[in-house]
Amino acid sequence: MRERLAKLIALGTAGLIVGLVLLFGWHQQFRVQQAAQQVDPAAWADLFPLHYESYMRSVELTGEPEDKLEANPFRRLAWAGNAFSLEYNSARPHYFSQIDQQNSRRVNEREQPAGCVNCHAAETPDLIAEYGWEGLHGMQYNDLRDQLHVGSSCRDCHDPADMSLRITRPAFIEAMAYLDIDVNRASRREMRSYVCAQCHVEYYFEPDNNELRMPWTEGLRLDDMEAHFDAIGFSDWQHAETGADMIKIQHPEFELHSQGVHAEEGISCADCHMPPVQVGGMQISEHWMRSPMDQMETACMNCHRGDADRLAARTGRVQQNTLRQLANVEDALTDLIQAIVAARENGASDAELTEARQAHRSAQMRWDFIDAENSTGFHASQEARRLLSDALQIAREGEQSINQETSD
Ligand code: HEC
Ligand code: HEC
Ligand code: HEC
Ligand code: HEC
Ligand code: HEC
Repeated sequence: MRERLAKLIALGTAGLIVGLVLLFGWHQQFRVQQAAQQVDPAAWADLFPLHYESYMRSVELTGEPEDKLEANPFRRLAWAGNAFSLEYNSARPHYFSQIDQQNSRRVNEREQPAGCVNCHAAETPDLIAEYGWEGLHGMQYNDLRDQLHVGSSCRDCHDPADMSLRITRPAFIEAMAYLDIDVNRASRREMRSYVCAQCHVEYYFEPDNNELRMPWTEGLRLDDMEAHFDAIGFSDWQHAETGADMIKIQHPEFELHSQGVHAEEGISCADCHMPPVQVGGMQISEHWMRSPMDQMETACMNCHRGDADRLAARTGRVQQNTLRQLANVEDALTDLIQAIVAARENGASDAELTEARQAHRSAQMRWDFIDAENSTGFHASQEARRLLSDALQIAREGEQSINQETSD
């Protein structure tokens, strides 16, 4: 009798515990889902205080952005006639994505399409739901300004049901389908790059409807993107000095990384930019995404043996080499631009300038791909070297084509 009672009590207690665990789990999930209704990362702070603090730590520790036009005046010449010649700054952490966009002269002095919000506002999925994909892209950025408050948020990358990684940006899903990749079937390792590739990629707006696209129908290398742009006869703007039809490349981190040794080793963006950190006795993934060079012990040294200083020096040499090559291409592009301007002043016809203008487009696209990419060649150093030596040659040949045309 007493035994049966003890058994009953034990069963009852176990049942109660299971019930409580289930209830707690359900409650937890309910809270996550509720938080997900809110774009503000602060709504997730209760449940994931360490992640929220990690994300927010960037705010106090980040200064004003660097003026990249002052840092290298060639950029103004390169982008003459394009909004980038008005203002171009160094990137800051995700908290600032919407703030920096709203403050840029590129949106305040030029009308920009609504497609700009895709990678700069956590409200984007709600806006797509409200206006539809086509409807949203038919608007202007300034029409939406008042509805944008949060740069990047937890729900951009996490499924609130179970916190797994997810893709929330339709343009990336479509662009990966050009490459026959179904992102819904991605492995966890792949997702640790794909969440970033929603935004850290080259993009353009479709001319007739301003819809956001990635130029990947031919592949991810710059040469493939050039083939795509040439095939559809696309240009972002006409160069104010040379009259060439130009392409402006922007932050192609995913594309360049995909050509590098680290990608070949199966290393994802998060491995270097979100290394494990110890906080409050717990290990979490760093959520202040920034340069890995001040966290090399956790980001690099589990693969690279030996001294972090030596690896830093080796990394520095890769970047110095890129900077040297970029400067050589800038000299060649400056000469080419000046030669085209001089030829125009001397009455050269459009037909006589076709080859030189084509060279300007093609060489500058390669220079821009490495200049706009934010690792100074590190993400794929051999590919960077190849593209910059191609750029140098194309620019020099373009200049020669003018001398030939005008001496005929
Ligand atoms: C496909 C995603 C994507 C789209 C679309 C996009 N951006 Fe960005 N933007 C980024 C990323 C990633 C960065 C950070 C890397 C960098 O600065 O190169 C950035 C940085 C910026 C910055 C800060 C640095 C700078 O360039 O001064 C501004 C301002 C900006 N974007 C404005 C715009 C405007 C205006 C548009 C629309 C014409 C736009 N963005 C569309 C992804 C995007
Ligand atoms: C929703 C779009 C979006 C996603 C997703 C995204 N980024 Fe960004 N990222 C940006 C924008 C926009 C900026 C520039 C913000 C600014 O300058 O105000 C940026 C800035 C950065 C910076 C520069 C920070 C600094 O202080 O220099 C790094 C590093 C970075 N992102 C890495 C990543 C990594 C790694 C991932 C994936 C784990 C990722 N990003 C996912 C849009 C995105
Ligand atoms: C093997 C490690 C590694 C991997 C993998 C990697 N990066 Fe980087 N990344 C770096 C290094 C090193 C730099 C240069 C930082 C510097 O110069 O201080 C960098 C720079 C950047 C920057 C500019 C940061 C800044 O502070 O200006 C961005 C943005 C970025 N990477 C995004 C990405 C994205 C997106 C991916 C995946 C497609 C990726 N990275 C993959 C190591 C890596
Ligand atoms: C740009 C994408 C991105 C954003 C934004 C982001 N995360 Fe993450 N988060 C990741 C990645 C990548 C991982 C690693 C997941 C993996 O390896 O499966 C991760 C992991 C996590 C984990 C699992 C434990 C860990 O540390 O690995 C939690 C919890 C989490 N994030 C919470 C948050 C919260 C809360 C926010 C908002 C304050 C946030 N994340 C914003 C990309 C992001
Ligand atoms: C998961 C392993 C792994 C991680 C993490 C990793 N690397 Fe590497 N890295 C490799 C391998 C493998 C190679 C190719 C063999 C070699 O050159 O040592 C390589 C090559 C390099 C090279 C020479 C490549 C070139 O282009 O010349 C540099 C520099 C480098 N890594 C720096 C870093 C830095 C800095 C970090 C951290 C931000 C890092 N690595 C993180 C595995 C890794």
